[in-house]
Amino acid sequence: MDIAQIFKNNQNWVQTKLKVEPDYFTELSKGQTPDILYIGCSDSRVSAEELMGIAPGEAFVLRNIANMVPNTDLSVMSVINYAVEHLKVNHIVVCGHYYCGGVQAAMKSGDLGILNPWLRNIRDVYRTHRDELNKIEDEESRYKRLVELNVQEQCINVIKTAEVQKAQRDRDLTVHGWVFDVHSGGLIDLNIDFKKLLQNIMEIYRLDLADPIKQEK
Ligand code: CO
Repeated sequence: MDIAQIFKNNQNWVQTKLKVEPDYFTELSKGQTPDILYIGCSDSRVSAEELMGIAPGEAFVLRNIANMVPNTDLSVMSVINYAVEHLKVNHIVVCGHYYCGGVQAAMKSGDLGILNPWLRNIRDVYRTHRDELNKIEDEESRYKRLVELNVQEQCINVIKTAEVQKAQRDRDLTVHGWVFDVHSGGLIDLNIDFKKLLQNIMEIYRLDLADPIKQEK
């Protein structure tokens, strides 16, 4: 990788943008009003903006190994908080991808050091859906299905957060589960029934959003 070339590319990009719109960066510097929070994989082949065909300023983005939303991960929880409560996004996307190295590693039992606790979250998804997954004989198909089920489970983790539950009562916030097929370049909507999912888990995760201190009186 020629690092110097990156800076040349950047200057070319600046000039291209300015040619089309002289105020482009002046406008960009005024602030961001993205409508989408995109949570995707760090995989270098799975870009965020490029595969969605959107411009800087249109999506708030978090990428980590295997597009995970662990309940105790401060990074992802802060991103969700900021996107929902401050940026007021109306869409949250969890985008997985086939041929995901993180999901593949979780299906094997190798010791991967610091990656172990991270990947264990994916093994938990496997355990939750063990019956369905074990029925799939073809290993590649089973692996692809785990990618999809992992997206679904991470969407559920998004839905469980207090921020999303609160926003659901005030406005039309939707959670989407997608998969990017690296082999075709296509984006697949898993058509997760977000409202139904929400109903099914609310008896367990529902938060009473009234002020807990006031309630005690
Ligand atoms: Co991946």
